[in-house]
Amino acid sequence: MEKLTGLKKIKTAVFISGAGSNLKNLIEFSQKKNSPISINLIISNTNKAEGLKYAHKFNIKKKIFCYQNNKVIEKNILIFLKKHKINFICLAGFMKILSSSFINKFNHKIINIHPSLLPKYKGLNTHERAMRNKDKFAGCTVHYVAAKLDSGKIIMQKKIKIAAKDNAISLAKNVLKIEHKLYPEAILKIFG
Ligand code: GRF
Repeated sequence: MEKLTGLKKIKTAVFISGAGSNLKNLIEFSQKKNSPISINLIISNTNKAEGLKYAHKFNIKKKIFCYQNNKVIEKNILIFLKKHKINFICLAGFMKILSSSFINKFNHKIINIHPSLLPKYKGLNTHERAMRNKDKFAGCTVHYVAAKLDSGKIIMQKKIKIAAKDNAISLAKNVLKIEHKLYPEAILKIFG
């Protein structure tokens, strides 16, 4: 990924499907002077994503793409991103899998946050799986998006201890807290 040159921030779109706590965190980060990115677009695959409220709150353009035919939708998303001169994508709880064609066309400038210490627990229900396996540690990973789910090059990870009293819900909360630290740090690492 190229280094940041001059004062211009990298126009970024955040893709969400749910609560959007990472989105909110990235928006707040983007408003800091040292942030290499600006958040110019919020994209969701559903109008039920709670995180869409941050579009209004922070005055950021939002767009919902309801998936029926993946190929057509991805084509429309690409056109929309181009129209808004978006150069970078952060996935933050986006529940759709992007095709390799989309990833290639966007020049691999797509990153994701995943709530496990990859390569452990790709896919869903990461915290339940960590609890079931009686893991001692959990964590989160920011990685480049590749065609294979949760398998792209790892940028950064953060680790926490799983306490004896933890369950999948408390663990999810604790991991989310470190996700909010890790995502900006990983972006600074990429462009810093
Ligand atoms: C996070 O745990 C993220 O790692 C995963 O989905 C969750 C999204 O949470 N990919 P939020 O919508 O950012 O609050």
